[in-house]
Amino acid sequence: MKNNFYNKSLISIKSVSKEDSLYIFEMADKLKNEVIKKGKTNDLEGKILAALCYEPSSRTFSSFITAIQRLGGGFIPLNGMEHTSVAKGETISDTAKVFSSYADIIVLRHPVVGSVSEFAKSATVPVINAGDGSREHPTQAFLDSYTIGKHFKSFENITVGLVGDLLYGRTVHSLSLLLSKLGVKKFIFISPDLLKMPPEIVSGLKMLNCEITESESLDSSIGNMDIIYMTRVQKERFSDILVYEKYKLAYILNKSLMQKAKSSSIVLHPLPRVGEILEEIDSDPRALYFREEMRNGLYVRMAIIKSILMQ
Ligand code: NCD
Repeated sequence: MKNNFYNKSLISIKSVSKEDSLYIFEMADKLKNEVIKKGKTNDLEGKILAALCYEPSSRTFSSFITAIQRLGGGFIPLNGMEHTSVAKGETISDTAKVFSSYADIIVLRHPVVGSVSEFAKSATVPVINAGDGSREHPTQAFLDSYTIGKHFKSFENITVGLVGDLLYGRTVHSLSLLLSKLGVKKFIFISPDLLKMPPEIVSGLKMLNCEITESESLDSSIGNMDIIYMTRVQKERFSDILVYEKYKLAYILNKSLMQKAKSSSIVLHPLPRVGEILEEIDSDPRALYFREEMRNGLYVRMAIIKSILMQ
């Protein structure tokens, strides 16, 4: 298989093909075996990754930092930019030039839609989008698809349910597009009317011959889902806190709902959860968010970094 990631930024799933994803999944499998056997590889010895998070991050930040270390490289860890020159008013394009002078690759999370591609224009090293406002989160899409691929024989016959804040949730934007490229044909989108999947994403999926069902009721749809992908209502994107309060617990996954779900279904969540999955679900064998999904983020991000930095 061909490495189409080498020396390129990863900004959007739009630029990724099915073959590209399978390339990452295969490499993630190999790296997982190496980590289990030896803890690390020395593939990227001497390479430096800068992780710049202008927005809070736990898993994405830590898994990228761990990934570069397990590949033998070093890192510049900035989780929060308040102690950097950004606080003095440095522009995004200047910050891109600064970190390009020190790092071989930059991981960037930023609250503004489109900011990561703007940053990448001024950077002289590859940039990975770790979330640009409510638009995209491509590496999360890779790790979620990888996790799904481990539980189903093919992507063609599964029905993917995406639940919660589909308007502002960047993970579901990237994930629905990547899954459609991998062959998923049926999606069920569950959200309050105000937080529906953006129309351009729905029409893009329809152009790829996907069947989309949109509903406000999780209760009546959960039994049809193979994947139950729960999301948090994105508090930080609401200008009116009262509107957030109204919708924050629109969907709560509990035992009685899970009784209606298929025994072969799986439950995913990019995390953090803030009430939309009750703790009583954590011990259900179908709940993979703590058990597999997060750890897969490490292997998949190792594969992405290695593909970008090594031909
Ligand atoms: C997500 C994000 O930042 O978009 N978190 C993550 O990266 N695992 C989801 C969220 O914050 O709700």
